[in-house]
Amino acid sequence: SVAERRGLKQGQLSLMAITTASYFAPRLLGEFSKLYPGIEVSLRVTNKEQVLASMADGLDDLYLVGQPPEHIDVVATPIMDNPIVVLAAPDHPLAHRKKIPLDRIAAEPWLMREKGSGTRNAIERMFSGHGLNIHPRLELGSNEAIKQAILAGLGISALSRHALALNQPGQFAILDVEGFPILRHWYAVYPAGRQLSVVARAFLDYLLEHGEAAPLSPSIKRSARTRI
Ligand code: PGA
Repeated sequence: SVAERRGLKQGQLSLMAITTASYFAPRLLGEFSKLYPGIEVSLRVTNKEQVLASMADGLDDLYLVGQPPEHIDVVATPIMDNPIVVLAAPDHPLAHRKKIPLDRIAAEPWLMREKGSGTRNAIERMFSGHGLNIHPRLELGSNEAIKQAILAGLGISALSRHALALNQPGQFAILDVEGFPILRHWYAVYPAGRQLSVVARAFLDYLLEHGEAAPLSPSIKRSARTRI
């Protein structure tokens, strides 16, 4: 409400986001701080291990992650879809095939994120759940490096569709593979038992209102939504 908004003239908001969240978190944070210019915001983007360590220490107000931690007691709110799509170069032979079977795609050379990546875990679970193994041809430590390697013709991969937010439509082919997209979510997480500050609560409300509706890019189609 307007009254609450006036009450939010100043304060601090400290956020930590896992690397892949950097495709959407800064934009939402930017919009939020335009609404509340008196609030001092900080955003650290880092890897899963550091997010977990900082969460255990309770250093930040909110954490934006692809999967709530298992061994820390937290309140986790799904704020946005995070579909994992299979990407290839636009001239890839499978680019226009329909319903590519999972075992066919498993035989392709795969470009994989590093161990510990939530994206990689989701892909490996999908294939091993169907009794399939994929063979990484290259292991690369970032989504951007994976995208470059795909365009260089080194193989295929699967990434969060958010990772395409700044790419031109048609720059990558999104393959129509059975079982994909893997439907995941982004979560805003904070330690259970912690009282959220007024500012952090306002940002969480903002994420819930604007996360799904926020345009990613014209090239990105929304998939069917699932809520947990
Ligand atoms: P990541 O993304 O692959 O960069 O770890 C987080 C996640 O999707 O869980």
